[in-house]
Amino acid sequence: MKLKIILLKDMAQLQDENIEEEKVVTRKKSVKSSDDPLLAFLSGIKGLSDTMKKRVVKVLSTEGIIDPRGIKALTQKELENLPGISEATASLLRDQFEAKSESSIFLSLEEREELETVREKIKTGSKALDTLLQGGVPTGCFVELYGAPQSGKTQMCYSLAANTLLPEDFGGLDSGVIWLDTEGSFSSQRLKQVLSYYEYTYNIPKGTLNTNRFMVAATRTLAQIEQAVKEAGKIIPKNKVKLLIVDSLMDPFRSEYGGLGELASRQKHLNKFLHSLMRIAEAYDLAVVYTNQVMANPDPFATAMDKVQPVGGFVLGHASDIRLWLRRATSKIRNQYDAPHARRALITDCGWLPQNECHFSLGAFGITDVEEEANHRKLALELESGIETPVEEDEEDVQTEFVKL
Ligand SMILES: Nc1ncnc2c1ncn2[C@@H]1O[C@H](COP(=O)(O)OP(=O)(O)OP(=O)(O)O)[C@@H](O)[C@H]1O
Ligand SMILES: [Mg+2]
Repeated sequence: MKLKIILLKDMAQLQDENIEEEKVVTRKKSVKSSDDPLLAFLSGIKGLSDTMKKRVVKVLSTEGIIDPRGIKALTQKELENLPGISEATASLLRDQFEAKSESSIFLSLEEREELETVREKIKTGSKALDTLLQGGVPTGCFVELYGAPQSGKTQMCYSLAANTLLPEDFGGLDSGVIWLDTEGSFSSQRLKQVLSYYEYTYNIPKGTLNTNRFMVAATRTLAQIEQAVKEAGKIIPKNKVKLLIVDSLMDPFRSEYGGLGELASRQKHLNKFLHSLMRIAEAYDLAVVYTNQVMANPDPFATAMDKVQPVGGFVLGHASDIRLWLRRATSKIRNQYDAPHARRALITDCGWLPQNECHFSLGAFGITDVEEEANHRKLALELESGIETPVEEDEEDVQTEFVKL
């Protein structure tokens, strides 16, 4: 009881009166616990009293930061703006982070190469596409999938999510996924259908695949998407998240900022949001994959490749490490492989990969190779009795909370 009173006193200082008793006890335990990573991190700071450290832990956890890496994801200014964190405390936190960081600012070529090669690669479902990307989607990077409607952007996200969840023995990362659904197009049935293919291929008993690390949030407004990114700070370390999907990125920005008059403000907001995502990607070494819509380029002299452009302007163009343009394959390819759903993926911009193209297909089990589409069609028919047909789900209120699969 005594401890509870102390904690309540701390909370009063934080002007937070809405915490239930149960949460107080939970926090009390974790603050005391030596394996609380945040408290362990703070314990090394000499200039902070124990009460102040508890206060900082409380403030950071209410801001969705339960891991020291979350501090790295905030700028000095963002830290200072947190309630109860002064400029001096924010500096102490950042200094401690730098002191704890094992790597120095400057790296030799070998050290840098080592850092890049330890990046994990998320498989796409198509071997051709994995080869194009030199192994798959690398963690720590921003990957933009753009293309016309039906080009396969969302389907690729399902396959990437499935391959992140899969155990390492089956080519997966055995890691968590966060999906921000800004268009209301996410379907849990569809992800389960894609997963059912891997269950079948690797002989995994149905329902035993761990999908608890998959979290989805309906984020139709910019306020919701920003709130979700903030809350993701709690989920990422807990679920060992290695993939953050935003499907689609520009939709809420385009709907909330209308007309040319608001373009500058929109781009400023987009830039700020992308930087917050970049810091998360770097701090937790996770891949950020976002889908993007396209617009026609009115320039009559534009080349075939430039006739269609992703929206988001230069701000988004500079942020994306890999830009992939998805579109339907030519009828020649579709007929050649008996693959009516064949698509093309072209790397239009990447700092380390050449502008190159490959083909892949869409099917019942997500992304596959064009050569496999016909086989997958047959397999889907065979397994049809085992695969639940998608059911219409009741319209739910838009929420910012993450829900499990
Ligand atoms: N259950 C399924 N079985 C087989 N193919 C499917 C299935 N669900 C979707 N597809 C394929 O995926 C296509 C839609 O692709 P996707 O949802 O990725 O489009 P998108 O590029 O995200 O488009 P938008 O811009 O409208 O969101 C469909 O045209 C169909 O070919
Ligand atoms: Mg889509």
